[in-house]
Amino acid sequence: MKTQVLIIGGGPSGLLLSQLLYTRGIDSIVLERKTKDYVLGRIRAGVLERGLLDLMREAGVADRMEKEGFPHDGTLISYDDEIFRVDFSEHTGHAVMVYGQTEVTRDLYEAREKANGKIEYNVENVVIHDADSDAPYVTYDIGGEARRVDCDFIAGCDGFHGVSRQAIPLDVRKEYEKIYPFGWLGILSETPPVNHELIYANSSRGFALCSMRNENLSRYYIQCSLSDSPDDWTDEAFWEELKRRIPADQAEKLVTGPSIEKSIAPLRSFVTEPMRWGRLFLCGDAAHIVPPTGAKGLNTAASDVHYLYNGLRDFYENNSSEGIDTYSQKALARVWKAERFSWWFSSLMHRFPDQTDFDYKIQLAELEFLRENEAAQKAMAENYVGLPY
Ligand code: FAD
Ligand code: DHB
Repeated sequence: MKTQVLIIGGGPSGLLLSQLLYTRGIDSIVLERKTKDYVLGRIRAGVLERGLLDLMREAGVADRMEKEGFPHDGTLISYDDEIFRVDFSEHTGHAVMVYGQTEVTRDLYEAREKANGKIEYNVENVVIHDADSDAPYVTYDIGGEARRVDCDFIAGCDGFHGVSRQAIPLDVRKEYEKIYPFGWLGILSETPPVNHELIYANSSRGFALCSMRNENLSRYYIQCSLSDSPDDWTDEAFWEELKRRIPADQAEKLVTGPSIEKSIAPLRSFVTEPMRWGRLFLCGDAAHIVPPTGAKGLNTAASDVHYLYNGLRDFYENNSSEGIDTYSQKALARVWKAERFSWWFSSLMHRFPDQTDFDYKIQLAELEFLRENEAAQKAMAENYVGLPY
């Protein structure tokens, strides 16, 4: 087979890129290791920045999101007995949208299917060949049959555990990593959200986050030990712990119920450089991971897609390679700012096992400064709604 852009990975990055390219008549094939149902079964991000909303509109997949998503103009932050609000709209003129990654992915799959886009599921043994030449190709197995696709470009959208990043030689690639000494235990429950906006809580028992997907679907997280497993936590134990970490008036009105999903995510900051090698381009989690505090993972994947899509458009429509030549540099400049924000917000909101009294006092001082200072709130709001592309 032959295509213009071979996309490895049918998560949000790969699907969005494929759909955007389609709107400009650029052909692509998506290779996905799992089934569609498996991809849709993963509960992940929930907050979309304005840049991603614009990309969804440009890709022609924003209708359901505009109808069913929930614009949020601000967020609550609590510590000890204090609670304050950061108003995104007032400080930036922009809001964010609560609309789950599952829904984004579902809308993209639907659009690709409607357009007869080619997605190969259950592929195995994907191997990238000659990425540093003008004639790259990819081989893989599907249903016991070996296949080969020749292409102009390869987009590595295959997440943190994919093969694309590993295809860049070690003497070219540099990786930066920070592992945090805790995880997030998250549950999804068919209960009304405790509050109409998110609550990020720094408590003496550790971090908690009250989030949502819709009026009757809540997403809650609590900081947990890395040695915990979801089975260690009954629903009752989860609700009790959450109540102890959020302000008392919120805990009182919390509606609890059975969890319909429960999982633990480790927290990690990771960046690989460069994000391009020859005709191979990395996008999203294949190139970088942020700790989830501040919901930058999916949104940073989207900004990569924006830069790559525009670079490829420039190549095919204007015969210019400037966009693809500057892809890595442009994407990484924004990635590092999202890394910084996620690291800062994670450091501010969690209790660290080795935290000294001094460290805690500094954390408190920073929270107080954020509560009292307009400039600090504006800086936070600008990062939260998403820095411009
Ligand atoms: P992925 O979503 O990982 O998609 C990559 C796809 O490639 C997958 O479908 C995978 O099956 C496929 N693939 C992998 N290897 C191969 C291969 N060899 N061949 C073919 N296909 C392959 N972000 C937030 O903003 N907020 C959150 O609350 C949040 N929670 C998260 C919870 C968890 C458990 C995880 C893992 C991530 C979370 N994230 C969150 C991050 C966010 O979900 C990711 O940033 C986002 O999914 C990145 O999209 P992606 O398409 O780049 O990668
Ligand atoms: C969600 C996750 C986050 O990491 C975050 O900062 C906000 C919301 C969520 O899953 O809803």
